Amino acid sequence: MNFKEAAGEAALKYVKSGMAVGLGTGSTTDFFLIALGREVRAGNLTGIVGVPTSIRSENRAKELGIALTTLTLNAVLDVAVDGADEVAPLEGGGLALTKGLGGALLREKIVAQAAKVFIAIADGGKVVDRIGMHTALPVEVTQFEHGAHAGFFRSLGANAVLRVDAAGKTYVTDNGNVIYDLHFDKAVGVRDPAELEWALLKRAGVVETGLFLGITKVALIARESGVEERTG
Ligand code: 5RP
Repeated sequence: MNFKEAAGEAALKYVKSGMAVGLGTGSTTDFFLIALGREVRAGNLTGIVGVPTSIRSENRAKELGIALTTLTLNAVLDVAVDGADEVAPLEGGGLALTKGLGGALLREKIVAQAAKVFIAIADGGKVVDRIGMHTALPVEVTQFEHGAHAGFFRSLGANAVLRVDAAGKTYVTDNGNVIYDLHFDKAVGVRDPAELEWALLKRAGVVETGLFLGITKVALIARESGVEERTG
């Protein structure tokens, strides 16, 4: 079993029959979806309904036999499970995540905020001392005049790169927006993620950031030595 699979399997113990479950996006979460689908089809978990965080996860859940619902029908989820691109301690306590390399950050944050318990699953390679030390920070912006943000992102200390798809075309999210990946100095990272998030969110045109601050109740980190549970 690889580390992503071990993390996905470990999240299963937080799911009980009758729960409404947020279904994340990405290769680690895919292992969770496979495990959840297996238990549902075997009848070991009954009455499960899921809210997917992307069209990709919606299709995957359907393939795996996981029934779906919406936040309109189930405004509060019992649990949500999702991957992460970075996991770091937050100054003052709790956990900070970077998310969105898979492009689903907006729906992922909506679903995470609707969950009583949000669980992040990752392999040990995602653990950092500070956000920004390992990966870029994805920021979803409206298509309208998105080029106008370049100077703003620079003023925050970031080298911002408009995301493109494999064919080199501008990447468009499930919500019809585009993504800028903000690269900070990896040696330093982001000293104050809360301040950065606030600066980004007050800017018209910025729809959401990949910063998940203080949302995570448990991070399941899989390594050679086993799956570590970090509480937020
Ligand atoms: C998608 C995400 C993913 O959860 C994140 O990118 C981790 O993906 P993976 O498990 O494939 O490494 O935030 O928007």
